[in-house]
Amino acid sequence: MSQTTPFTGGLYVITYGCQMNEYDSDKMASLLEKTYGLKLVTEPEEADVVLMNTCSVREKAQEKVFSELGRWSKWKAKKPNRIIGVGGCVASQEGKVIRQRAPSVDVIFGPQTLHRLPAMIDEALRVRGDDSIKKKKAVIDISFPEIEKFDNLPEPEVNGVSAMVSIMEGCSKYCTFCVVPYTRGEEVSRPFEDVMHEIEVLASQGVREVNLLGQNVNAYRGEMADGEIADLAVLMHAVRTIDGIDRIRFTTSHPNEMTQSIIDCYGEIPELVSHLHLPIQSGSDKVLAMMKRNHMVLEYKSTIRKVRALRPNLSLSGDFIIGFPGETCDDFKETLALVEELNYDRSFSFIYSERPGTPAAGFPDDEPMEKKKRRLFMLQEVLNKQTLAISEGMIGTIQRVLVERLSRNSFTEVAGRTENNRVVNFEGSPELIGQFVDVEITEGLTNSLRGKLVATPESDTHVAPQYHSL
Ligand code: SAM
Ligand code: F3S
Repeated sequence: MSQTTPFTGGLYVITYGCQMNEYDSDKMASLLEKTYGLKLVTEPEEADVVLMNTCSVREKAQEKVFSELGRWSKWKAKKPNRIIGVGGCVASQEGKVIRQRAPSVDVIFGPQTLHRLPAMIDEALRVRGDDSIKKKKAVIDISFPEIEKFDNLPEPEVNGVSAMVSIMEGCSKYCTFCVVPYTRGEEVSRPFEDVMHEIEVLASQGVREVNLLGQNVNAYRGEMADGEIADLAVLMHAVRTIDGIDRIRFTTSHPNEMTQSIIDCYGEIPELVSHLHLPIQSGSDKVLAMMKRNHMVLEYKSTIRKVRALRPNLSLSGDFIIGFPGETCDDFKETLALVEELNYDRSFSFIYSERPGTPAAGFPDDEPMEKKKRRLFMLQEVLNKQTLAISEGMIGTIQRVLVERLSRNSFTEVAGRTENNRVVNFEGSPELIGQFVDVEITEGLTNSLRGKLVATPESDTHVAPQYHSL
């Protein structure tokens, strides 16, 4: 702790949205623990500092923010010393409007300024204690100071065998429907050595799997010490040499950034999982053009074909937007046909949500919501069927599983994940945690699989890490 703490309670953080936000929330928590000794609590009532990390990708997610803030204002009325902070993409987009709609908010920070939180909280406390300031305002910093954020965040702390590592921020693609380039700024990559250092620290603490994160993670272009630029392929080749790291994931990718060298990684890097999340949004070239995705369906299919040539068992997932302005019934049928052809696993699909300030917000949209809902329902039926068929197809197969923790349902069972990110519960000792084991899948349930341990190839060499959460 770097100063005497003004707080006696804990820290409560609620996170909406993507994995980047989850990653950022973890960083906020460790930063505030280091600065003020604030420990995470599970109930907002027990907290002195309550933070909301927000998402504005769809209107619904954004509206949740304001209803939750309404509840928090009531708690603050009971305990006025509490600090309320709002971060993430809604904060970035709305800025001081948040304070106008929710006057109990003390601090408003963006995805690129979360490392300044302690200074902002200190300032909020100073303003609150200064009687000469009659009209108290929120402390706001939603600027984009590029990569400064990563230089000012604490070293990673591990709470499991799998860790997320943010390698780039922002997006420069400007799809016509999306707010991300405006809320998170343009694409900025972390320097190569910084990323490697973070992963080496994680590996030394027992991490076996890393998930490289970015809004367009395959657009990574990190500067190396010698001034050369490393792309995602170069980075993954380097990450696989780190002792202890035996599984690599990356998410989320843009189809146009799936270069041949990244595709080749599926043939060259056994640690890279046979899973690819590659959003296409629509199966219609006309809609893709209106979305400004800058590629055609055929190019996307060709990428998938190349990856599947190297990894025939590839599990593919995607994102789909239904009811984009101008999408006709025929366009939708093309999306359905694409999904049927490529066979997706556990994908995300949503009705188009108009986002203020984006080009698509000005596009004429005559399709009734009822029709859009019917289309979404039809698409999700097909996607769910495909996911179920993949789970059922895994029954009887032997899967390489990274054991993560004790099972939630039984003390004699452990739980881990397959390459395609399915949770598997099976009988096994806690000493297996942190190891890759082979499990025969025996049963497929709605959200997980059950299995039987068949081999523990690492048992002789592996020392089980100690986890506080056990
Ligand atoms: N990099 C990824 C790509 O290549 O598309 C996308 C990252 S984006 C933050 C995550 C997903 O949010 C998108 O793939 C899209 O499906 C969804 N999304 C973004 N804006 C949306 C909107 N206005 N309405 C509905 N869904 C939206
Ligand atoms: Fe959004 Fe398109 Fe970038 S969906 S995050 S603008 S690739």
